[in-house]
Amino acid sequence: MLEEKEVLEYMAKGPVYMITRGEEVVGTVSYEIKEDESVYISGLAVDPKYQGQGIGRETLRRILEEVKDARKVELLTHPDNANAINLYESFGFKVTGRKENHFGDREPRIVLTLVRGQ
Ligand SMILES: CC(C)(COP(=O)(O)OP(=O)(O)OC[C@H]1O[C@@H](n2cnc3c(N)ncnc32)[C@H](O)[C@@H]1OP(=O)(O)O)[C@@H](O)C(=O)NCCC(=O)NCCS
Repeated sequence: MLEEKEVLEYMAKGPVYMITRGEEVVGTVSYEIKEDESVYISGLAVDPKYQGQGIGRETLRRILEEVKDARKVELLTHPDNANAINLYESFGFKVTGRKENHFGDREPRIVLTLVRGQ
């Protein structure tokens, strides 16, 4: 759980959206616009009950449309997260790096980058 101050700091960096289906919240997505005007998608999660129904794909499509002027979009995911990697690669993201213990959980993450407008 995050403290209120941490939540407010997080929200100040960029939008945090709830993904809804009717009245129900089925996921969240958030991103930050960095100083160099690149976009960092800091979180995408769909409730396991609703995964595999196209919600993640539609959400990512909408976010990439919303930030369509950004030349570079980046995000991190776990190297074992095949579903997420498939999804991101299908939008043209490429693996551009790897970070060990980035979130302090002793697990690696890979960096996925989408470069547009070339
Ligand atoms: C990754 C995640 C956001 C995808 O959301 P989703 O709504 O389940 O995804 P979709 O149903 O839109 O599927 C999108 C693609 O993901 C992949 N995928 C989704 N479910 C899959 C499954 N069960 N097996 C294999 N690939 C799968 C496929 O490439 C799929 O492509 P397709 O549309 O051509 O079939 C969701 O699984 C999730 O919240 N996972 C836990 C949190 C997480 O790992 N977030 C990403 C970390 S950055």
